[in-house]
Formats: sequence, C-alpha cells, structure tokens
Amino acid sequence: MAEPFNPFPIYGYFGPTYFCNRDREKSSIISALQNGRNLTLYAPRRIGKTGLIHHVFHHLGKKWNCVYLDVQEAFSFKDFTNALLAAVLNAVSKNSSVLKKFQDWILTLRPVMSANPHSGSLQLEIDFASDAQQRTTVKEALRLLDSFGPGVIALDEFQQINAWDKDSVSIEGWLRSEVQHLKNIRFIFSGSQFHLLSEMFNSAKRPFYASTQAVAIGKITAPDYTAFIQHHFKDNRLKIGTEEINQIINWADGNTYNIQLFCNRVFSKTRKEATPEILNDSILEIYAENKLSYLALSTSMSKYQWRVLTAIALEGKVYQTTSKDFITRHDLGSSASVLRALEFLTSRELVYQYLDEAGKSYYEIYDIILMRWLQKK
Ligand SMILES: Nc1ncnc2c1ncn2[C@@H]1O[C@H](COP(=O)(O)OP(=O)(O)OP(=O)(O)O)[C@@H](O)[C@H]1O
Ligand SMILES: [Mg+2]
Repeated sequence: MAEPFNPFPIYGYFGPTYFCNRDREKSSIISALQNGRNLTLYAPRRIGKTGLIHHVFHHLGKKWNCVYLDVQEAFSFKDFTNALLAAVLNAVSKNSSVLKKFQDWILTLRPVMSANPHSGSLQLEIDFASDAQQRTTVKEALRLLDSFGPGVIALDEFQQINAWDKDSVSIEGWLRSEVQHLKNIRFIFSGSQFHLLSEMFNSAKRPFYASTQAVAIGKITAPDYTAFIQHHFKDNRLKIGTEEINQIINWADGNTYNIQLFCNRVFSKTRKEATPEILNDSILEIYAENKLSYLALSTSMSKYQWRVLTAIALEGKVYQTTSKDFITRHDLGSSASVLRALEFLTSRELVYQYLDEAGKSYYEIYDIILMRWLQKK
C-alpha cells in the first residue's frame, strides 16, 4: 500500500497505520459479512464511511473479492452497470485464476476499455441495446462473482439510485431479488443522506425493507483521536501538546475530515513543536482557500436565508429553530419565515438535522469550516 506524504491524508485510504480506531465498527461489519448478513452503513457526511469500507476490505483477507462502487458517480442505470462491471474487474484483477474467467466473459460484451490516468484502475463502456440486456448482464456478473467464493460489494451513496430518471423503484425491487439469490456475496449499502437511505431500508413498502443489519458510525472519541495524533507527531520526532490537540478537535467539531485537514496543515508547518501560532496560521490558510466559494454562496441565496444560516452558525447547535429565544436573539421575524429558509438550507445540504445521544434532533451547519468562518466574521 502506498505511503502518504503526510501522516494525516485527506483523501483515500492508506492502510491501518493512518487510520484512527474504528475497531468496534470494523469487527462488527466483518462479523456480519462472515456470517452472511448484508449491511446498511449510515453516517453524516465526511465522518468516515468510505474510509471504513476500505479499512474493512483491508482486513477481510485475500480470500474475499472486495468490490467498491460509488453510486453517486452513476447518473443512470447504464452508468451503474458499466461502473459495476469495471469495479468487479478491478476487484478480481489481483486474483489471476478468476480474473481470466471474468475477462473472457466481459470480452463477449465487446466493451471499450481504458485505464483511469489518475488511479490506474480500469474503466469500461458497453453500449447496451436495452434495459433488459443490462439487467441480464448485471445478473450474470453477480452470479459469476458469486461462483468465485466469498465476496463483498459495497454500494456507497446507494440512495443515489432514487435520482435515476428511469423507474428506480422497479430497479430497486429487481436488485433486491438478485441480491437474495447470491450465496457467497454480501452487500454493504452506505450513504450519508439518512432520510433517503432509511426510507429504502425501513419502510415496509420498499423492496429492501428489513433486509439488512444497520450500522451507524459517529464521531471518533476525543481520547482516541488525541492518542492517534500524538503518535504520528512523535513518530516523526515532532511534538504536539494536548491543549493544541483539543483545540484542533474542538474547531473541527469532532468531524473526521476536518480533523484530518487541520492536522495535515499543522503537521506540514511544524519543524519541532506545534505552537498556537502554527494552529492559527493553519486556520487562516483554510479560511483563505474557502473564502471565495463562501462569498459566492452568499450571493446564491436571499439575504434573509443567509441571515438564518449565520444565526445557526453562531449558535452551533439549534434544537428549536422556531423558539422565541432563537428568533429574537437573531432578529429573524416570524417563525414561518424561519421554517421556509430552513427548508431551503436543508434542501441544499447546507444545514443538517442530527440526533444527539438522547435521540433529540438539532440543526447544525454541515460544513464545519463554513460554520467557523461565519462565527468569526
Ligand atoms: N478513522 C479514520 N482515521 C483517519 N482518517 C480517516 C478516518 N476515517 C476517514 N478518514 C479520512 O477522513 C476523510 C473523510 O472520510 P471519508 O471519505 O471516509 O468520509 P465519508 O463519510 O465517506 O464522507 P462523504 O460523506 O463525503 O462520502 C478522508 O480523507 C479519510 O481519509
Ligand atoms: Mg464517502
């Protein structure tokens, strides 16, 4: 596995050394897969779903064919079919005996093949004559993979299939029945749009109802992340105090991506010890890089919507957006206007509804950097 240039990578998976904790989640997912259970993996954005899937793949061992597919990149069933075939091909490419069988089968479909110049992975494009031919192809690919022994297919951002223009409900039902027929292949359906994914798996009207085990992942605890950060600084003969680490974790609101981003900057600037000045410079650098897009964002909505967004940022968490307290503190007028603005901000995924430990829901700005930037203005 390639080594990252900095022990706090912000893209990709570089092996367990650069991955903080998630031992419990990893074991529970592996145990489910080994015992024939399919999974749904829920988490808010940038908490570490995709990373965890690759971490699980890393630990499953060579016997397993591990297929990863980001459904968000498929805008239609045809895209999905092509991407799935390419993902299976890439997954079995490490295993020469089955690779030959899969390749021979795929060549009969006359694909146009190319290599992604960035990742080196294979891409392919087949010009399907009909929807029916696509279904047959997916079915054959899955059955072939199934005949190769244990395997797992992770369909990341699976809720995206709802956005396909074709009849996605019928595809959902068909896929569910295909999944059911496989003996050796397990599925991980993951996504960050909780309401869409949860509707697919928890509504009795939907084909995937009650067919999976749900795994929810949350923030990595502060003590675990502190130990991880300290270890990597020490490993490079650098120092960082617990106070500085606390500041990083608090600023990032415990969000994995933001902690990694902040640590990546601080690490790159540290020669001996991470000082408060280095932390401050890192934050200013992050703001400077995002400023233009935030200014563009402010002009893409009404002044009132921007004020509601700012009010939520200033509060951090808002449990009752229509409470008198909140409205008067920020001079927001009527509760009906707040609700309308909130609907707009939620639909653009600028504001997210989360559940706290007690199960109470609250609103928070999704992009923590934007939240911090609005707070300091
Ligand atoms: N346990 C971890 N330890 C260290 N870094 C992690 C960990 N989990 C994720 N990361 C890093 O944090 C960033 C965000 O993680 P990831 O992409 O897995 O999140 P996600 O929940 O899939 O996000 P999205 O909702 O955008 O798809 C990535 O750069 C990843 O490398
Ligand atoms: Mg992801």
